[in-house]
Amino acid sequence: MKLYNQLLLIITLGVFLSACGSKSDEQPAPAPFTFTTPDHFGNSFTIPDDNPMTEAGIDLGRHLFFDKRLSRGNQVSCATCHQPSKAFTDGLAVSVGVDGRTTTRSAMSLVNLLWVNRFFWDGRTNSLEEQALQPIQDEREMDLTLTELVAKIEAIPVYKEKFKAAFGSETISPDGVAKALAQFQRSLISAGSRYDKIARGEVQPTERERRAIDLFFTHPEPSAPIPLRGGNCGDCHGSNLTTLNTFHNNGLDLIPDDLGLGAITGKRTDDGKMRAPSLRNIALTAPYMHDGRFNTLEEVLDHYNEHIKATANLDPLITAASNEIQGKSLALTVQEKEDIVFFLKMLTDSTFINNPAFQNPWPDQ
Ligand code: HEC
Ligand code: HEC
Repeated sequence: MKLYNQLLLIITLGVFLSACGSKSDEQPAPAPFTFTTPDHFGNSFTIPDDNPMTEAGIDLGRHLFFDKRLSRGNQVSCATCHQPSKAFTDGLAVSVGVDGRTTTRSAMSLVNLLWVNRFFWDGRTNSLEEQALQPIQDEREMDLTLTELVAKIEAIPVYKEKFKAAFGSETISPDGVAKALAQFQRSLISAGSRYDKIARGEVQPTERERRAIDLFFTHPEPSAPIPLRGGNCGDCHGSNLTTLNTFHNNGLDLIPDDLGLGAITGKRTDDGKMRAPSLRNIALTAPYMHDGRFNTLEEVLDHYNEHIKATANLDPLITAASNEIQGKSLALTVQEKEDIVFFLKMLTDSTFINNPAFQNPWPDQ
């Protein structure tokens, strides 16, 4: 009865409002984007109340994401550095923006961002809405002021319609640009890899796959009654998302050039800490680390196994992990390193890479 009353109220109100405001530019509320999040990712995410995901908002976001006109001289779009075929990275050690200007960091994969709450390698930004306008204004990336941005978008007729469909008004604002980009990016969910099928129980792992999964997630216990061998990766790249969204110093340099989280918090104990990122589609996103220093996954494994630097803030999860009693390094065998690389390749999701909803909508860009 209560629900019936509420429905009646909504309908009556709707009829009343449409009777009052029957202007020709009347716009129906945009259709919500309906999707189910993968159960095995958990539900610790929030979509901001003031930016619900809608079909029209995501469509607008996709057009903006792939549009080079959002940069000085129409040279660079978000997708220049975040290409779908490379799991939304650019294949470079450090990214290159307008006029060939270089940034100091490697482009991050844009994947399962719905479950991320601190963005960038150093976690300096708390929402995708806040993040979106930074590369547009960064002079090494897209190099536009927000006034220039609005003027350029206003001059492209199709955006008026798209803003109206998404936000009910033809007025183009930086806030609308940020919201639409955030909506599109929240829709970039990768959950179709071989590993996902195993995690959901849809297929049985082969013996090698089982071994590779266990090695990746296990913290080694060499002195246990039955010694446990492990690569320790899941301590930081944990859960089915392969990230716990935590910050660590993983021993790349004795003295870090890039202070990462330390430059944001100002605490010397945070120097050299970066977010342990998701490893989904990692086989497609070389080169690796915040500065692209490793070209292959084999080099990454050699780093964790043999070349960790005893830097000041080296993470205890690394110093405490060895497959040998009182071992000084991780001490994996050659075969175990290969098995972990094999696991990383199980995270490649071709349905994500090839999803038509994530491709460039502009025929001539
Ligand atoms: C010139 C290359 C370049 C362009 C253009 C660019 N990005 Fe990025 N993007 C990067 C780099 C490099 C990083 C990592 C930066 C850092 O950590 O300081 C990054 C990081 C991100 C992140 C953080 C991901 C995470 O997991 O924390 C998001 C989101 C993102 N970019 C979205 C965008 C959007 C949206 C646009 C367009 C408005 C865009 N980028 C344009 C290079 C670029
Ligand atoms: C103590 C936490 C920690 C552990 C344990 C750990 N990682 Fe990492 N991992 C990180 C951090 C932090 C980064 C980013 C570091 C940077 O770029 O400065 C990273 C980066 C990576 C990258 C590069 C990601 C990219 O997008 O470029 C790969 C690949 C990787 N780790 C694989 C592994 C594997 C495989 C293991 C297990 C052998 C492992 N990690 C263990 C914290 C950890």
